[in-house]
Amino acid sequence: MSNPSWNVTTTSDEVAAALSSHIQGKTVLVTGISPDGLGLDFCRAIAAHSPSLIILAARNPSKIAAAQEYLAALYPSLQLKPLTIDLCSLSSVRSAAQEINSTVAKVDVLVNNAAMHAKELVRTEDGLETSFSTNHIGHFLFTNLLLKGGAMKEGGRVVNVTSNSFRRGAVVWDDPNFLKTPFGEGWAAYSQSKTSNVLFSQALADKFKDRDVYSYSLHPGLINTAMAKKMDMDEFAVKFNVTLHWKTFAQGTATHVVAAFDPTIESQNGAFLADCQVKPITEPEAAWATGKENYDRLWKLSEELVGEDFA
Ligand SMILES: NC(=O)c1ccc[n+]([C@@H]2O[C@H](COP(=O)([O-])OP(=O)(O)OC[C@H]3O[C@@H](n4cnc5c(N)ncnc54)[C@H](OP(=O)(O)O)[C@@H]3O)[C@@H](O)[C@H]2O)c1
Repeated sequence: MSNPSWNVTTTSDEVAAALSSHIQGKTVLVTGISPDGLGLDFCRAIAAHSPSLIILAARNPSKIAAAQEYLAALYPSLQLKPLTIDLCSLSSVRSAAQEINSTVAKVDVLVNNAAMHAKELVRTEDGLETSFSTNHIGHFLFTNLLLKGGAMKEGGRVVNVTSNSFRRGAVVWDDPNFLKTPFGEGWAAYSQSKTSNVLFSQALADKFKDRDVYSYSLHPGLINTAMAKKMDMDEFAVKFNVTLHWKTFAQGTATHVVAAFDPTIESQNGAFLADCQVKPITEPEAAWATGKENYDRLWKLSEELVGEDFA
């Protein structure tokens, strides 16, 4: 259990200050670090506590340059490494993993933060549905290549940023790329990808427990990022009959910092977190996002889609 006083209003700056000694000296790789996003705000919060290296991974080199400039202005001695990765392209993911395996001795924490919500059915160059490819399959391949290739070692952590949308839809087992399933506005595909983030952490915790690897999934809350702006949250609230509770960026990235560095949650390997705390998934209607049968099935499906077996 993390600090019991941490909650929905706690900020990443507060959590990072409390976990400062666990951030110091760590190499942290974050996907999706565009301006106006949670990935960059997470980097900002931990940068104050002397990580040895932050690897900024994005598909757009100009956004990486902007992130570098922003962080270097705040912390001139901070070590930064750019990494170009397009999670929609398995060949790009393979190249990025090879670059890290051959140049970085150890990634202590991998934060799989990047995501998108495809409103229209578009397939990637690999024939995958775009939200599923970006949000899960690309991260599945990247993570496993770092574990296989040696950059991620014992004691490493993998944080998968999901959303509450995992409660709104399961993996479409017989048609994950929407070849025949109606696509609508892409909510089923987005939910499938976010359920996959939750199951992927459970799978990693189980399959790599002998190697002392930890993995957590987390819901950051609702924050007015570039992605939230594109998703039209007012329409979302009406469609799914939910009340919107907005967080600041620093409140939104607090759970990232807990999941990435808090040693007190190690006994809950594989868990889902929200508002800085482990939150067991107990609702019967979200049972598709828990359990060995589901995560083994997702692992096998993901291996088939990337054309490589892991673990
Ligand atoms: N904001 C919220 O309210 C909220 C709520 C629940 C969950 N989340 C989760 O929080 C995480 C961060 O999202 P955010 O709100 O900070 O949105 P964001 O600012 O749009 O960040 C998403 C990042 O993913 C990157 N990305 C998209 N497609 C990619 C690809 N093919 N390859 C590599 N990178 C790609 C984006 O890069 P580009 O800039 O190049 O597009 C961007 O840097 C996501 O996992 C999201 O699902 C957010």
